[in-house]
Amino acid sequence: MTQLPAAQKQAEQAEQATQSTQPAPSALKPSDGGKALYGGKSTRRITVRDIAAAKERGEKWPMLTAYDAMTASVFDEAGIPVMLVGDSAGNCHLGYETTVPVTLDEMTMLSAAVVRGTKRALIVADLPFGSYQEGPVQALRSATRLIKEAGAGAVKLEGGERSHRQIELLVESGIPVMAHIGLTPQSVNSMGYRVQGRGEEAAAQLLRDAKAVQDAGAFAVVLELVPAELAAEVTRALHIPTVGIGAGPGTDAQVLVWTDMLGLTSGRVPKFVKKYADLREVMAGAARSFAEDVVGGTFPLEEHSVH
Ligand code: KIV
Repeated sequence: MTQLPAAQKQAEQAEQATQSTQPAPSALKPSDGGKALYGGKSTRRITVRDIAAAKERGEKWPMLTAYDAMTASVFDEAGIPVMLVGDSAGNCHLGYETTVPVTLDEMTMLSAAVVRGTKRALIVADLPFGSYQEGPVQALRSATRLIKEAGAGAVKLEGGERSHRQIELLVESGIPVMAHIGLTPQSVNSMGYRVQGRGEEAAAQLLRDAKAVQDAGAFAVVLELVPAELAAEVTRALHIPTVGIGAGPGTDAQVLVWTDMLGLTSGRVPKFVKKYADLREVMAGAARSFAEDVVGGTFPLEEHSVH
């Protein structure tokens, strides 16, 4: 048998490992040539060029948040093509009440973990409140940390017209930017958590914001909590993809916060969330079973013991 050079052998093994984690071929559509963001095969990271190509093909795609390596690896193996290390980590992972207190150090640490846990997904890291509002230079300094130290493939920031100068400089510097308009949770103290874009004036402003971020060079834009008809209109008006959350079915992509959609979040979740599992109950049940086994002396058993 021919001996492969070590480097080639390693590359082949890495390729096989990545392929084995991809969705079953049955998920492939015959027409997509394996390029589909979800269900396609790819032995490399998804890039913003793949996202642009998906918009041209009229393909819808899913995005989930992730805040740690292990959860991210599960979503990567399930074929989720884009993961957002959202500053929703503030409420969903770090125990803050809002996203406002989240720091750039925290986002850098969480983003690096998600990058380490994944092989295929494009990782988008959120710029937290206070890390870009001073202006383009501050935005560039902060985004550079997420790209260089954490290894993210893109960053996200909030704001339409008000953030276009920041987006321009980041994009000019080679950093892909996902914008975020509509409800922008970092502005909770002035905006609250209310539907945005209702009424003629507000709808026209949302459309201006969407065009401003596209003109500034953003590769995609999140539309949060806006009327479905308006989100569909914005989607038709843009050549970059829209990513909806609470924005109806007319956007190019959909994003959900993973702890909401898997039922780990305690208490009420927003109406737009679909709960695909009840992890909170599963985990609490398992924790109670473990506690009862320990208290009752049925764990550990002989099979769990070493001699
Ligand atoms: O931080 C986050 O998770 C987000 C999503 C809600 C889009 O910004």
